[in-house]
Amino acid sequence: MRIDLCFTPAQTDELALRDKTVVVIDVLRASTTIITALERGAREIIPVATVESAVKISGNLFGDVILLGGERNGKMIEGFNLGNSPAEYTAERVRGKAIIFSSTNGSQALVRARYARDLLVCAFVNMGTVAEALSGGGRDFTIVCAGNNGMLSLEDSVCAGMLIARVSAALESAPELTDGALAARTLYRAFGRGILKMIRASDHGRHLEEIGFGDDLKTCAGVDTLFVLPQLDGNVIRLKPAHQGNEPAVQSQAT
Ligand code: MLT
Repeated sequence: MRIDLCFTPAQTDELALRDKTVVVIDVLRASTTIITALERGAREIIPVATVESAVKISGNLFGDVILLGGERNGKMIEGFNLGNSPAEYTAERVRGKAIIFSSTNGSQALVRARYARDLLVCAFVNMGTVAEALSGGGRDFTIVCAGNNGMLSLEDSVCAGMLIARVSAALESAPELTDGALAARTLYRAFGRGILKMIRASDHGRHLEEIGFGDDLKTCAGVDTLFVLPQLDGNVIRLKPAHQGNEPAVQSQAT
């Protein structure tokens, strides 16, 4: 198995990711929020790059089953129903709903990877489930970190490194790691013992604390708190049944 990694979406493009297994990571907070929303019963998440597209798509759908969620600069977008705090996505608000979702970095990474053969959404909260699906499937994969406004983000890189370490530990032979994947694993080895401390020290973590979302950092730092596998299906992200018995969640051969 070969594991590749992009520290920002700008390091790759739609064509390079086409037909690959891709894992998108945006720990603060898009991945964590999407995973939480689906775990709490949202029917699907529709990631879109711009606020304009979100509003346009919502106009074509039935209002009572649709919510608009996301942020710009960490704050809820005017006219939207939900921001980007996992705490807002309660079962009462999201159960059965389709959520059109646009965020500064996470949505951009998801949109860029939309032609992947398999696209999984990962954060610390569902680490074990994603690692199991990838190691069970046995296919090469590429991790795309959302980063922070075009720059590397520490929390996404450490999360990617943890995923690489977990998948490697589950395999019989060591995977081939590209330089990016090796670097992320090294960051995980340096920071993995104190995830919340690392998140609090990160650029975006400090920004979120400053604008009043300090509690989200604790949620996003939780490892293996949710056991769901969000996967892109066409243009929407839905839950895929987690790996069961001999049936890999990410298939190892072409269908
Ligand atoms: C993003 O997509 O850039 C983030 O999820 C920003 C945030 O923390 O709301």
